[in-house]
Amino acid sequence: MERLPQGYEVHRKFLTVDAVARLQASVGSRSALFQNVRPKAGMNLPYRVVDGNDVRELLPDVYALVTGPLHAALQEAAGVPLELMRDRKRAIRIQRYQGRSEGLRWHLDGGLFSILLTLVNTNGGSTEIIGRDLSRRLKWVPYLLFPFAGVLERCPYEAVVSEPGDLILINGGVTIHRGTNPRDDGERLVLVASFDPRDRAPTPVWDWLARRLNY
Ligand SMILES: [Fe+2]
Repeated sequence: MERLPQGYEVHRKFLTVDAVARLQASVGSRSALFQNVRPKAGMNLPYRVVDGNDVRELLPDVYALVTGPLHAALQEAAGVPLELMRDRKRAIRIQRYQGRSEGLRWHLDGGLFSILLTLVNTNGGSTEIIGRDLSRRLKWVPYLLFPFAGVLERCPYEAVVSEPGDLILINGGVTIHRGTNPRDDGERLVLVASFDPRDRAPTPVWDWLARRLNY
């Protein structure tokens, strides 16, 4: 039987309030690491990010969480041995969204499976997810058919509003999803990490596209 049958699952309160507070403080102490991601050819929305190289070198507690409990939870759900995506810079990201104009448009992840751990959500932001079966049929729409990406606006999707400490496990390499923020006040801070099955063959064209369009 295929794991993650809906394409994703949500683990509410995966982290305790205290654990989330420690992470918030840790990331807050390194706020200078956030870089602006600017829109490219109208394909993506702006947001800010701490990349995987900085997390690995300068936020060891975050890195340990990703490679320990979060890796284990995702691997359990995926049912196959996983390792962090090869591209170290993009494998782990701390993403910050402020305002309605910021977010991530419909996309697929570079890695086949991903974790999204919410650290702050004071703008009512959500992760919107198109079911995996429909996503598979639409796989190329977010990338190659972007003039027609309005097609996706009419697709049914689930909106997951995550509170601090909530964890989403997603088969994000084949399940189309996006991040939206309904309000201009407040912010959303999400830790994201992408993993691949240990034996996954490199996908250079796909990686190039994802890098061009997402981040
Ligand atoms: Fe994603």
